[in-house]
Amino acid sequence: MSAGDDPRERVARAFEREYGGRPEALVRAPGRVNLIGEHTDYNDGFVLPMALDRAAWIALTPRSDGVVRLLALDLSQRGVFDVASARRRDARGDPHAEQGGWLEYPRAVAWALQDGGGHTLRGFDGVLASDVPRAAGLSSSAAVELAVAAAFQVSSAFVWDEVDIARRMQRAENHWVGVASGIMDQLVGAAGVAGYALLIDCRDLSTRPVPLSADCAVVVLDTATRRGLVGSAYNERRSQCEAAARALGVAALRDADGAALEAVREALDPLVYRRARHVIGENQRVLDAVEALEAGASAAFGRLMDASHESLRHDFEVSSEALDAIVAAARAAPGCLGARMTGAGFGGCAVALVERAALPAFLSAAAEAYTRASGRQGELLVATPSAGAGIAAS
Ligand code: GLA
Repeated sequence: MSAGDDPRERVARAFEREYGGRPEALVRAPGRVNLIGEHTDYNDGFVLPMALDRAAWIALTPRSDGVVRLLALDLSQRGVFDVASARRRDARGDPHAEQGGWLEYPRAVAWALQDGGGHTLRGFDGVLASDVPRAAGLSSSAAVELAVAAAFQVSSAFVWDEVDIARRMQRAENHWVGVASGIMDQLVGAAGVAGYALLIDCRDLSTRPVPLSADCAVVVLDTATRRGLVGSAYNERRSQCEAAARALGVAALRDADGAALEAVREALDPLVYRRARHVIGENQRVLDAVEALEAGASAAFGRLMDASHESLRHDFEVSSEALDAIVAAARAAPGCLGARMTGAGFGGCAVALVERAALPAFLSAAAEAYTRASGRQGELLVATPSAGAGIAAS
């Protein structure tokens, strides 16, 4: 990426043009890539994502009233709202919620921060830009939400509690945007630790940084396909998991093991059985992955990533032809220890663990093989584990 594309530079320059003065603060919130633990978060399970060096940035100057003026640089669109007008709105099922009105995200954040004995907010003049690829399974929307929350923290000076912020941002997504997503994206975006992946227990929301071997690189492979209206398929998977938990007599699939599932197999809809088999297996794979990483066993971690993909493909059925093609291309390339789709699925990105020594050969071979198989031009980026959202030195 050239310096001219750096969103941090772009928001600072655009702020001066737009408001005629230097911004008082610069905030940043990262996208994320999930290494393993897919569709487990809303089952009270375990996930192992890492915050990316791709992020949403806001240059801002606080205001003394409740007005938020925001220029979305990537869209060349301006929006204004008053925090007092950001009231609860149930947009569930609204087909315009995802693409319509980017300003809904900042408004949702203002609502969620104020809701239920929340914070008293003051507004700000700001410029927003992001280099997190959109709708690619890298949490571009959580990055924007957290950047807006960090901007409000600067203008309103409330205490920044990572778990509370993540919970509020999840509610913004659930109640305002209308996707019943789990807590993973918001929590790793808030609590990510530079240089580490983050194990999250999605029941008690405790987190633990997990080291990645310096000999390996995490590569994000973008299929250049974008998921369509993923909301309905996502919400459907979630209900199937809840049905399985009810049949098993547990609060969430987190509480079940393989033996318990086999014991009720006959009574379960075969589809619901497969969904549950994925979640139960995936939770165990996350715990095994953490053990492997902490023991420096990268190859074992890679094999768990492979197994995760197969389970997502066949049991949970959230992969796609393009995702399967790029995962196959990655696995056949030099130095690949494992590869899987990442995020909600149906399009977007995969992630691979690659021996650093083989990185250049991996990147060209995987890109070429994917183009040959799919006719598409994928984009590969080597990801650096980064810190969670907050104020950046301006
Ligand atoms: C999306 C959701 C997350 C999580 C993943 C699947 O990214 O926002 O909460 O459920 O899908 O693992």
